[in-house]
Amino acid sequence: MATTLISGGTVVSSTGRREVDVLVDGERIAALLEPGSTVLGSDLRSTVDSVIDASGKYVIPGGIDAHTHMEMPFGGTFASDTFETGTRAAAWGGTTSIVDFVVQYPDQGVLDQYHAWHEKAAGNCAIDYGFHQILSDVQDSSLSAMDELVNEGVTSFKLFMAYKGVFLSDDGQILRAFQKGASNGAMMMMHAENGAMIDVLVQQLIAEGKTDPYYHGISRPWQAEEEATHRAIMIADLTGAPLYVVHVSAKQAVEQITAARDRGMNVFGETCPQYLYLSLEEQLGAPGFEGAKWVCSTPLRSRAEGHQDHMWRSLRTNDIQMVSTDHCPFCMKDQKDMGIGDFSKIPNGIGSVEHRMDLLYQGVVEGRLSLERWVEITSTTPARMFGMYGRKGVIEPGADADVVVYDPNGHTSIGLGKTHHMNMDYSAWEGFEIDGHVDTVLSRGTVVVDDGEYRGRAGHGRYIKRGLSQYLV
Ligand code: URP
Ligand code: ZN
Ligand code: ZN
Ligand code: ZN
Repeated sequence: MATTLISGGTVVSSTGRREVDVLVDGERIAALLEPGSTVLGSDLRSTVDSVIDASGKYVIPGGIDAHTHMEMPFGGTFASDTFETGTRAAAWGGTTSIVDFVVQYPDQGVLDQYHAWHEKAAGNCAIDYGFHQILSDVQDSSLSAMDELVNEGVTSFKLFMAYKGVFLSDDGQILRAFQKGASNGAMMMMHAENGAMIDVLVQQLIAEGKTDPYYHGISRPWQAEEEATHRAIMIADLTGAPLYVVHVSAKQAVEQITAARDRGMNVFGETCPQYLYLSLEEQLGAPGFEGAKWVCSTPLRSRAEGHQDHMWRSLRTNDIQMVSTDHCPFCMKDQKDMGIGDFSKIPNGIGSVEHRMDLLYQGVVEGRLSLERWVEITSTTPARMFGMYGRKGVIEPGADADVVVYDPNGHTSIGLGKTHHMNMDYSAWEGFEIDGHVDTVLSRGTVVVDDGEYRGRAGHGRYIKRGLSQYLV
């Protein structure tokens, strides 16, 4: 078993920072040591197999992106990153674990789909991976499958209040699934948008000739998100299930989550980088068909209405608990372009798995987040929320050696031909200049990225059999 010393850096956790060296033994963290520690009189540095110099840099637990859709069948096509390309891009960006969504469409067997996802991922991932399960039509068999999946380490289930005929569950189905979650301890995740309202608005806009990508945003107003968020909270309240609202973009939805939390409920919110940085006016409203690059649901919100600033604030105050990407990439050519002349045919999704750590670090640079909060929302809370904490989300003896050496004095230019490794023909983040740089990434003790060079391999990543959420009282 190889030993590595990460020396001279500042180890940052969700609760503080310390100038200590990190000793890695095989796949795990063995010890945190005072710099210059000796073993039997000799400098530890001369006894380990390799030394990573982290002087002047932050040493943080590897990022955990708890919302990805690798090779997802959706919108008449497949998300363009495979488990291989997507997890490799994630590693480049300092993310060492993903939790991907197993998709179940109506009439598909939940457990069949779960096994199919294992087949897609096994042998292909650069980093460790877990699964959430999507439930569309909730049958009796789906409910019993939920118990089996919890035992398999799939301890969270996503339901949809939108996408009729594709993913949508009615409120009765959602209630039944939540009752199951309340009894087996699973986290219930919700795509909270009122699909019936959206479907009418889409039809009306298209009939009026309003077919540009901008109208995707107009067809999915914040009222549809606020209403659905409230409804999901009521179903959680009635059943006693914990609720995790995915991809929150509207400030009014945040207020619903905050109110539920203030009443003592186990309700949590996730946002994504796109809802912190991008907007209806600037991106969705780009000339011609360009806005298609940023068609995702929930949609980008109006900057004039102040959603983005509110979201940053909510991250700081813990009204929103964590940030995932909702990585669901589609190329412009042959994928997004299916929606030329009809925004409702643009496959929904943005690719960001590579850039989450860098984009959120800008919150530290700009004084919106503390360094510790950055680690918390990108790694520690995702680990706790989804039952991985201890092995993941922390740099302590016994934890998996998933470690990122992050250089606050480095620089990262995002864009095609620069740092773009996702399997997409455009970047939703083209031109973003990042203060900071992912220097070295270890996944279970193996260096997978070394100053911009990928040194990992497909198949290094292992399935994470998750426990129940460690974030619940
Ligand atoms: O636009 C999105 N978010 N695509 C992925 C599917 C989902 O709803 O998360
Ligand atoms: Zn969703
Ligand atoms: Zn998603
Ligand atoms: Zn560097």
